[in-house]
Amino acid sequence: MNRWIELETQHGSGAYGNWPFALTRGEGVYVWDSAGNKYLDFATGIGVAVLGHAHPVLTQAITDQTGTLITCHSGYFANDVRARFLAKLTGITPSDLDRVFLCNSGTEAVETALKLARAHTGRPGIVTMMRSFHGRTMGSLSATWKKPFRAPFEPLVPGFTHIPFGDTEALEKAVTEETAAVLLEPIQGEAGVYPASEEYLREARRICDANGALLIFDEVQTGIGRTGKWFACEHAGVAPDILCLAKALGGGIPIGATVSRSGIAFEKGQHGNTFGGNPLSCRAGLTIIEYIEEHDLLTNITRVGAYFMTGLEQLAQQKPSAIRDIRGKGLMIAIQLRGKVGPTLVKLRDAGILALAAGRMNLRFLPPYIVTEKEIDQVLNVLEEVLP
Ligand SMILES: Cc1ncc(COP(=O)(O)O)c(C=O)c1O
Repeated sequence: MNRWIELETQHGSGAYGNWPFALTRGEGVYVWDSAGNKYLDFATGIGVAVLGHAHPVLTQAITDQTGTLITCHSGYFANDVRARFLAKLTGITPSDLDRVFLCNSGTEAVETALKLARAHTGRPGIVTMMRSFHGRTMGSLSATWKKPFRAPFEPLVPGFTHIPFGDTEALEKAVTEETAAVLLEPIQGEAGVYPASEEYLREARRICDANGALLIFDEVQTGIGRTGKWFACEHAGVAPDILCLAKALGGGIPIGATVSRSGIAFEKGQHGNTFGGNPLSCRAGLTIIEYIEEHDLLTNITRVGAYFMTGLEQLAQQKPSAIRDIRGKGLMIAIQLRGKVGPTLVKLRDAGILALAAGRMNLRFLPPYIVTEKEIDQVLNVLEEVLP
């Protein structure tokens, strides 16, 4: 067995495992394993390495910041880099979403949103969706749908109701004067890339407003450009009251953010953490947003994403016995297969391409935002070979 895998197997918590190889280096759209094999990375750490790997601009920025100031607790001091980052982030968020709580991961961003919704409304209820994924800490897990993720840890947090995703009537029934918030992903990522219709998002906004409930969009996977707009909800022209972000935001440096409308904020001491808002992750976040803006990467995501989608749709016509459906937006795309996804992932890997599963039947691609048509062609060609 590979030495790195052996050590991780020996000392890891048991929560992860079955690694095919150890990745030891990355550059641009490629990563290398410890044996020197090269892979085209369309997984990006589940949608994280949006500028690819070892990008010189991000590397320079975090190197500079490491030599300047890494830590500065938000509870004690303000900080120049954090202040610039907060201003930058709220400059791209929709509507009047301009209050930010910074943390270190997606699940924390969702926990924060849930606490904020309860504190702001004084109500206990959270309406969330079947098939949803919101993270693995107790509050976020209570919103997450999948039974195997939840069952060993019950009892979970009370007050959560799961309803079918996309069903306006069910939403209308579930939201009451006890509801603090409706929590949903505009595109359900882990479930298999299922987009909500624009109409459903507009109805969710209307139903929340009519009942005095808050609308929370979990854009941990879709946010910061993944779908070709800064936020997936912009495609529908619907703004939430609270927006959860992580993944792409730091380009690989851990950071999460919960952004709320100006009237929705914590009181002093109601929430906090040690690492959230540290200048190193803020510098990464600032650099990512500036880079996407300066290099017009949203246009690249839209253009290359459409190119990928067209290619996949042609492939689906060619291979109806292998492909059931193609779904996605921008550079968040899934192929729903007619069989289990595992064997196809292995074949792709053997051909030098890293992709992801989402659910049992979906092959998911979250390439970096700097990807070009050339690399998309490479993936399309390999798919043509490996799919029956
Ligand atoms: C929509 C969504 N919310 C929350 C999370 C949890 O994020 P993290 O793994 O950083 O805790 C994820 C992770 O995949 C996600 O896709």
